[in-house]
Amino acid sequence: MHPELTLVHDQPLVSLNTFRIPARARHYLRIAGAGELAAVRADPQLSRLPRLVLGGGSNLLFTRDFDGLVLHMAGQGREIVGEQDGKVLVRAQAGENWHGFVRYTLEQGLGGLENLSLIPGTVGAAPIQNVGAYGTETKDVFHSLTAYDMASGELRTLDGAACRFAYRDSIFKHPEGRELVVLDVTFALPAAWQPNLRYAELAQAARDAGLAHPSPREVGGLVEAIRRRKLPDPAEIGNAGSFFKNPVVTGEHCARLLAQFPNLVHHAQPDGSEKLAAGWLIDQCGWKGRSMGAAGVYPKQALVLVNLGGASGAEVARLAAAIQADVQARYGVLLEPEPVFI
Ligand code: EPU
Repeated sequence: MHPELTLVHDQPLVSLNTFRIPARARHYLRIAGAGELAAVRADPQLSRLPRLVLGGGSNLLFTRDFDGLVLHMAGQGREIVGEQDGKVLVRAQAGENWHGFVRYTLEQGLGGLENLSLIPGTVGAAPIQNVGAYGTETKDVFHSLTAYDMASGELRTLDGAACRFAYRDSIFKHPEGRELVVLDVTFALPAAWQPNLRYAELAQAARDAGLAHPSPREVGGLVEAIRRRKLPDPAEIGNAGSFFKNPVVTGEHCARLLAQFPNLVHHAQPDGSEKLAAGWLIDQCGWKGRSMGAAGVYPKQALVLVNLGGASGAEVARLAAAIQADVQARYGVLLEPEPVFI
């Protein structure tokens, strides 16, 4: 094996996934950069193993041990790399903690990432599912990324179009992107910043705080306060954020549901479809605060499933399936999980 690689066998993953599921990996490597990925690719044994690229482990549900090679992305570093078309370009390595990076940009006086404050996970994971919150998605502030192609051994630079961003989706979740391992991400932050207060709850929080012209740091503070109020801190209670995506239905389906459920929360999409609030649907089915074994529905936000202590991944998956069945029966909508099931 390549001298750069320190392979670990039977690695516990409980502290490497925010759901705190006690799974194990048969093989495990910390990856600081492209050199180690090239070494994995060149190794006849390692290159044949099933691979799991792990960032902060905040969007994963282990339903079993992982019988393959975990590549734990650990590259550190962040820097302002230049300016282009009125935007400041800031780059961070994949293993950087996301919120730490957001804070760093705010401390440099740069706005743009403040609405994405306090999202668990790493910089490298942000483009994978185009993380978004409070009216901003990764794609809105994205410039480009560097990925190592495990198939060809080449370094590739992908711009936003190449990443094919969509709601909680990108090329990296599809077969064409499966061989690409994100090494660093560059964001384009506006030199002339304007707050994005389109999300009603955030606008209200700004008014309540008497902030007519908030700074990026002040908006970040408001977002942190909203998240702390509604979402469980993974350091205290195991979870992976929203467990389901907000489902998109046709305009006709939404109209039929509205006739029966006038309070239905829905947001019209540009193409005439309607996005429903999965949290509302689950809440209305009576699941908020309920549990099955050691897996529960968070009492303050029904879209978040939690590990009440010692839950297995299978237990969480059973709770998720029971919720899906109820929502399907009542609303005719199939909720799609947001975390990746292993
Ligand atoms: N609602 C309920 N009951 C609940 C939860 C929500 O009735 O238990 C209703 C709310 O009253 C509101 C609507 O559902 O009318 C939407 O709720 P909320 O504003 O809390 O946002 P969400 O749609 O549940 C999404 C993202 C979150 C993100 C927030 C804020 C998804 C899957 N989730 O949640 O992202 O922080 O908006 O932008 O898109 C994540 O992906 O892990 C995540 C936390």
